[in-house]
Amino acid sequence: MKTYLVTGAAGFIGANYIKYLLRIHEHIRVVILDALTYAGNLGTIAGDIDNERCIFVRGDICDRALVDDLFARYKFDYVVNFAAESHVDRSIENPQLFLLTNILGTQNLLDAARRAWVMGRDETGYPTWRAGVRYHQVSTDEVYGSLGDEGYFTEQTPLCPHSPYSASKTSADLFVMAYRDTYHMPVSITRCSNNYGPYHFPEKLIPLIIKNILEGKHLPVYGNGSNVRDWLYVEDHCKAIDLVVREGKPGEVYNVGGHNEKTNLEIVKLTIATIHRLMESHPEYRQVLKKKEIGPDGEIDISWINDDLITFVKDRLGHDQRYAIDPTKIREELGWYPETTFEVGIVRTIEWYLNHQDWVEEVTSGDYQKYYERMYKDR
Ligand code: NAD
Ligand code: TYD
Repeated sequence: MKTYLVTGAAGFIGANYIKYLLRIHEHIRVVILDALTYAGNLGTIAGDIDNERCIFVRGDICDRALVDDLFARYKFDYVVNFAAESHVDRSIENPQLFLLTNILGTQNLLDAARRAWVMGRDETGYPTWRAGVRYHQVSTDEVYGSLGDEGYFTEQTPLCPHSPYSASKTSADLFVMAYRDTYHMPVSITRCSNNYGPYHFPEKLIPLIIKNILEGKHLPVYGNGSNVRDWLYVEDHCKAIDLVVREGKPGEVYNVGGHNEKTNLEIVKLTIATIHRLMESHPEYRQVLKKKEIGPDGEIDISWINDDLITFVKDRLGHDQRYAIDPTKIREELGWYPETTFEVGIVRTIEWYLNHQDWVEEVTSGDYQKYYERMYKDR
């Protein structure tokens, strides 16, 4: 039986990952370490925690004593590090927090793993490692910087981050590689493009747009909306991480993305059109709208759910123009491919939000309103 330490699993991708792991593998044990920042929500994973196959520990990945204690207690085979400050706009506001969690937190986990997993030394002086262990870093395509109209990020693309967020994730990746080169630590890194799907915190583009439409608010598009992101359904990312942790070559980086490039304006228009279509075919969904004016047909009016909701606002500072992944390596070495097309994934995601408004209310009940006002009032 393999025991996993999964950090940050009360957040968006980590929560989807542990749900996927527990479903796919029977004989595993997962210990979740999460600080429950604004982005972490215990309710998201409460149904998965059974104190046998899935154990939850609230704590900070920067806490050396706690992390050492967890390694001693649970004898982890795998560490999968999702824990991070993950939002570019917040990193522009407060860069230092991103250095603390994303860089120092990663280095603290690497060091704890080294203390726990090193067995001795070989004849050349390098540490020898417990068999079968792996430290996996969940990274991002944003470490490569920004593309023009042409080309894709490969694993050989030079690292060239622009935002404080991506600079901190790049530093973390470099530490992971430094542990590989200096201590021969068995590590791997996945660099994935933008994810979407259930449990996505509504500070990121897609869930924010969905939330604003349901509340009848304007939809803020930065700049002229021409920036391109390569969108991947979250479960396809989880599947890629699972493959890399178990079967990927130690010491390697794998890019993860599904050739699904869209401009932000396309994403926003698609989201508007999909919500409108779903509400037309399932009038019961209209109950979740804040605005419940009755139209001439006696149903809640949805004629206002159209592109007029879009507002172009001041651009993000240092806004990367285009991200696009070349996933050849993971496809050829591990047989990974994205199973969920965007057409299917976006409908599934929107329906999930329509059916889980209680979750949205729960995660936005804290400082979200203040965050929104601060971030968008001068735009
Ligand atoms: P998220 O913000 O939704 O969740 C982050 C989680 O980490 C939260 O549960 C939070 O409580 C926890 N956390 C934060 N600081 C912590 C600390 N110091 N100690 C312990 N826990 C802490 O993030 P996400 O979107 O799920 O992203 C997860 C990882 O995937 C991140 O490392 C991110 O860089 C990477 N990534 C994200 C995307 C994307 O599209 N969202 C794409 C590629 C890579
Ligand atoms: P985001 O979801 O924050 O992810 P990332 O910055 O990591 O790619 O943003 C996705 C794109 O959407 C990015 O180009 C910025 C843009 N965007 C908006 O236009 N309006 C918004 O309100 C947000 C949050 C993002």
